Amino acid sequence: MQIVTCPEAATPPDLRTQVRELQDQAWPPGPAGSPPAPPGPVHDPALQPLSLLLVDDGRVLAALDILTKDIEHAGRRYAAGGLSTVVTRQDVRGRGHGRRLVGQARATMAARGLDLGLFTCDRPLRSFYESAGWQHLPGAVLVGGTAQAPFPSDRPGFDKVTMAGFFSPRALRDRAAFPGSRIAVHPGDIDALW
Ligand SMILES: CC(C)(COP(=O)(O)OP(=O)(O)OC[C@H]1O[C@@H](n2cnc3c(N)ncnc32)[C@H](O)[C@@H]1OP(=O)(O)O)[C@@H](O)C(=O)NCCC(=O)NCCS
Repeated sequence: MQIVTCPEAATPPDLRTQVRELQDQAWPPGPAGSPPAPPGPVHDPALQPLSLLLVDDGRVLAALDILTKDIEHAGRRYAAGGLSTVVTRQDVRGRGHGRRLVGQARATMAARGLDLGLFTCDRPLRSFYESAGWQHLPGAVLVGGTAQAPFPSDRPGFDKVTMAGFFSPRALRDRAAFPGSRIAVHPGDIDALW
């Protein structure tokens, strides 16, 4: 079993097709009968999507994408990473594959020089991410979308929590500025809440 790391757009076609199958299992596309989406990249290339795939003998067991963007918060600029499309193949869930991959993503973000990682997840998944080293930011709201069309994580009907990792000395020093705040990430329209 190995973790394959490569830009989303450069993922070998066989692995990319499998990743799309996993994503379609978790987030079924469109109404019934609509044509399947082509197995190309799903993320905005401007966010430099980097795929991490847990592969066993050519079979993708779990996958996620790291998206990156510079953000400004409380008057300071940070290189931020987000976790997106975290998914484990249905028939091998509950075996620690997801935890291994989101833990590796944290290490990858730090190793690549990002100041911090920030993302939201459904409330029941908080302990899953915490078990891989991510920390909960109480009261923090990520504001996705764009400045013109914001997409906040506290929209009516959403029950999201914000998770973070602080990597650089700068980010570690400033970490108190994040809980209880609204954090404008604005990743765009394609990955509205990355
Ligand atoms: C969430 C997901 C990636 C977890 O993958 P996995 O490989 O099954 O996770 P792991 O086996 O590493 O689980 C680690 C822990 O998280 C818990 N966990 C996993 N999925 C959970 C869920 N949906 N709700 C609550 N807890 C969950 C497990 O019970 C396990 O806890 P334990 O060690 O105390 O038993 C997988 O359930 C999945 O693909 N879900 C559909 C897509 C999705 O919701 N992605 C997350 C987007 S934020």
